[in-house]
Order: sequence, then structure tokens, then C-alpha cells
Amino acid sequence: MERIAIYPGSFDPVTNGHLDIVRRGLKLFDRVVVAILINPKKQFLFPLEDRLEMLRTCLQDFSGVEVDAFDGLLVDYASRRGATAILRGLRALSDFEYEFQMALMNRRLDREIQTVFLMTGMRWIYTSSSIIKEAAQFGGDVQGMVPPMVLDRLRGKFPALDRGGR
Ligand code: PNS
Repeated sequence: MERIAIYPGSFDPVTNGHLDIVRRGLKLFDRVVVAILINPKKQFLFPLEDRLEMLRTCLQDFSGVEVDAFDGLLVDYASRRGATAILRGLRALSDFEYEFQMALMNRRLDREIQTVFLMTGMRWIYTSSSIIKEAAQFGGDVQGMVPPMVLDRLRGKFPALDRGGR
């Protein structure tokens, strides 16, 4: 039987840290479905279509990966997709409380689906979409933290980044 994991998130935008988790998740699962939550209540820098396109482009050379979007409960989506696991990356300690809460809630909602955490690579320990957007907005150099395509898209959003900042 194919082992499928869902890697859910906002991916606003996808970072090199996310790609590292997908790459390593593929060592444990036959298929990783990277799934963006459709959340009309939250304000995003990139619209859903752009986030899907960035993920698809950045993951095109990975075999066993699919990019999708979902709404409603994650566990319902996971069971619709025949997944047995939810994959999440853990960075610094600060991630722990939120992730722990989510994992326990998901377990309560569906005991058949296991949450699997992968420790982020040391290189990506402080990489997050939010911190990247914050730095890029004011022209901070985020090269190496995001794939080249995402860097181009950030330059399109933040002219200060294009000028090299400061
Ligand atoms: O990248 P993010 O924003 O930290 O991802 C959060 C996400 C999408 C994984 C989480 O908000 C989620 O799974 N939402 C779906 C709704 C749901 O199932 N909620 C109950 C479990 S907390």
C-alpha cells in the first residue's frame, strides 16, 4: 500500500526550509501531498494561485510530490486523500507549543492519522515565511533562504529588495 503524507501549510511563500522538509519526507513516504489551506479570513502576501504556482514550479523535479489546496478540516482532507500521516517541520522551540496543540487536536479528531515531525535542518532553523517577508519588505537580503523563483516574486512585491535595500 502506498504511504501518503500530507504536508499542510500556508506557504506564503514557500521557503528553502519547506523544500528541505518535503525532500526528507520523501525518504519516509511514497508520496507527499503539499497542501495549501484555503483560508479566506487570513490576509496573504501572495494569492492562492501564486502560492500554488510557486510550489509547483519549485517542486517540479521532485518525484512523488503533488501540490494541492484544501478547505475545511485537515484530517478530513487527509482521509479523503488516503493519507495516514500529517507531516510538519519543527524549528526552534517556539514552534513547539502551537505544533503540539495542533497535533493533539488532529489526533482527537481522527485517531487514524499520525502527525510526523521532522526537525528542520540547522541551516533553516530561523527561516520562516513571515521573517522573510518582514526582511524583504524593507530591502533585507533574503537570497539563499528562498528558491530563485520566489526571490523574483518577492522583488516584484517589494521594490526596496530589488535595489538591494538600505
Ligand atoms: O503554515 P501554517 O499557517 O502554520 O499552517 C497551518 C495549517 C494550515 C496546517 C493549520 O491551520 C490547519 O491545518 N488548518 C486546517 C483546519 C483544521 O483542520 N484545524 C484543526 C486542527 S488545528
